[in-house]
Amino acid sequence: MQGEVIHTCNFVADATEFILQQANRALAERDQFRLALSGGNTPRPIYRELARKCRLPWDKVFFTFGDERCVPPDDEQSNYRMARESLFEPADVPAKSIARMRGEIDPQTAAEEYERQLGRLSTQGQEAIYRHDLILLGLGDDGHTASLFPSTTALREETRWVLANFVPKFNSWRLTFTFPLINQARHICFLANANKSNALLDKVLAGDKSYPAATVKPVDGNLTWIIGTT
Ligand code: 6PG
Repeated sequence: MQGEVIHTCNFVADATEFILQQANRALAERDQFRLALSGGNTPRPIYRELARKCRLPWDKVFFTFGDERCVPPDDEQSNYRMARESLFEPADVPAKSIARMRGEIDPQTAAEEYERQLGRLSTQGQEAIYRHDLILLGLGDDGHTASLFPSTTALREETRWVLANFVPKFNSWRLTFTFPLINQARHICFLANANKSNALLDKVLAGDKSYPAATVKPVDGNLTWIIGTT
């Protein structure tokens, strides 16, 4: 599991700088930056800082979402809403640069629709699978990442890229990238702030597969952990 592990007391600043570095590399190499955003609370200050620095040609950045709750886009639970408020609106990101998962419609339909959208883009790029330049991931207290929760069906998926995944602990559906899609990324970065349990981090970093995050392993890319310390 390991990868590069960065411990920092400047979590937001260092995470933001890391994203900008990855962006500039992708833009230099391919004139595009394909970035998948993580949801939850951890990335919010990082997205705000990214908008504040705003040094990117947003029309060459294409935002996707690693997962979404099955709620409307203006719901307080929506990952899209969090990104819209903290990054898209403040940085004036054009709508054409954003692929929103439609959490407000039937979950299976939304997952299939999103996967088709990525499929069209990968076909245009003559790729067998859509490769993100960078996928940002969080870590839940149960070791989930994206919406790949312990003991849920999506963990076993080996071909689909995006699934609707029922999460019993919430008695609700989620939309999520699968491991096949995540692991195709050029770079994957876990963002874990200082609130995360060190015991959990140790187990995941040691590769304990009872925690879904430990199954993240880029096929032909890099893995970085940015861990906040107090
Ligand atoms: C989500 C996220 C999820 C998140 C973790 C950590 O939709 O909730 O994508 O995987 O990253 O649950 O959440 P926090 O950052 O709020 O601790």
